[in-house]
Amino acid sequence: MKPDKIYQGEITRFDAKGRGVFDLTLPNQEVRPMAVPFAFPGDTIETQYTGRKLGVYAGRLNKIITPSSERVAPPMPGLEQYPGAPWLCLNYSAQLIYKRDMINQAFEQAGHAERINAVESGSKLSYYRNRMDYSYGWRGELGLRQFGFWHKYFNVTHDILLSAEATPILEVCRDLLPRFNVVPWDHQRNCGDLRYVVIREGKFTGERLIALIVKDLTKINADTRDYLKTALDPYATSLILGENSLLTDSSYAQKLETLKGREYLTENINGLNYQIHLNSFFQTNSLMAGRLQQTVADLAGMINRLLDLYCGLGFFGIYLAKQNPELKVFGFEIDAPAIELAKQNALMNNVGAQCSFTAGPAEDLTWQNIETDLVIIDPPRAGLHPRVIATLLDKQPATLIYVSCNYHRLVQELKEFKKAYKITALQALDLFPHTPHVETVVRLDRQT
Ligand SMILES: C[S@@+](CC[C@H](N)C(=O)[O-])C[C@H]1O[C@@H](n2cnc3c(N)ncnc32)[C@H](O)[C@@H]1O
Repeated sequence: MKPDKIYQGEITRFDAKGRGVFDLTLPNQEVRPMAVPFAFPGDTIETQYTGRKLGVYAGRLNKIITPSSERVAPPMPGLEQYPGAPWLCLNYSAQLIYKRDMINQAFEQAGHAERINAVESGSKLSYYRNRMDYSYGWRGELGLRQFGFWHKYFNVTHDILLSAEATPILEVCRDLLPRFNVVPWDHQRNCGDLRYVVIREGKFTGERLIALIVKDLTKINADTRDYLKTALDPYATSLILGENSLLTDSSYAQKLETLKGREYLTENINGLNYQIHLNSFFQTNSLMAGRLQQTVADLAGMINRLLDLYCGLGFFGIYLAKQNPELKVFGFEIDAPAIELAKQNALMNNVGAQCSFTAGPAEDLTWQNIETDLVIIDPPRAGLHPRVIATLLDKQPATLIYVSCNYHRLVQELKEFKKAYKITALQALDLFPHTPHVETVVRLDRQT
């Protein structure tokens, strides 16, 4: 197949990445799936072939010939292919049904009998994120990577996921390029000055941390700093210059220089305050994060000792400790600065004496001799290290609650856990409207 060749087809399903798929008949009569981002089941589309990966052909959406009945208009023209919201033009009730069906299909294909009835709806559908990382593109764009490409950028001139203020903040940061002697980072040649703009917001505290991530702090002159301080002052409670001098493409700042306010911001979830460092993980949907905490607490029931693996800033452990003054929490997390903040968060919420937080990789098993009646497991998308699974199966605490942002991985790992546990609850919450992502929560009880 030649690159850029044009094909037409009717989308019949989504793939695991949430791309619309139709069956393409090749000249040799072989039938192959063609995956097209931003296309939905029921659409008849024209697509331009872009490449092939693991036997799946991929294309760019060129034209919608006949729209699906579930297709809706974007909030404004030009956002039809917004990278952070690939399902933006799909009716929201339909999104929830597709998510439910995709989770259930993954459970079925992995041989599990359990199913979810419905995905709990997100409580806010725009401006629901509390963190966005906008990348400088080599042509001077400032925005998001185009879906499926690491070197093509969607210039965000109208933000829809974070807040109305994100758009003027990005304008200020984009304006650094013509005003000062700085150039955007070039991901193909690995050179340049400006890499990312990270904005974190406390939706319930009104705080906003803005960070400009650069290659080398010494290359940013006093005029640039002064301009940032003045132009972003109305928007930022904290303003930070961060340095990532590595070639690794990441917004993680190894060095920080605070231009205004503090190095972290505070968010309040369910009445508890959490200090959040620029680099640390925090649930990105503050409103639904509260629902996630309550869901986990309801599933946990009355317990005495909790092991909180992959605990981040103490998100679940501190909430559960607050609910039950008798509870002892043992949290483990790889990110050492996050652990320091988790300790402070526990003190700030008056549960310091109930909580112990330790830094280190879960796979080092430093937690293995702690006896608990419940283990919360909330790993990153890559899932659990096999040693973590093996150790939990060996120790067999009475109950596990697995919180997963990757149900494809979850269904595989559940096969292992079922050697000793049975699923007693399965729920899903939409923390990521307008994307195919969803948070799944599973309670597992030891088989007697
Ligand atoms: C999905 S987040 C959950 C964090 C926390 N439970 C929360 O809800 O805010 C996953 C966390 O796992 C941490 N992590 C990643 N790899 C890890 C590892 N090998 N061992 C322990 N923690 C790890 C990340 O730093 C991140 O804080």
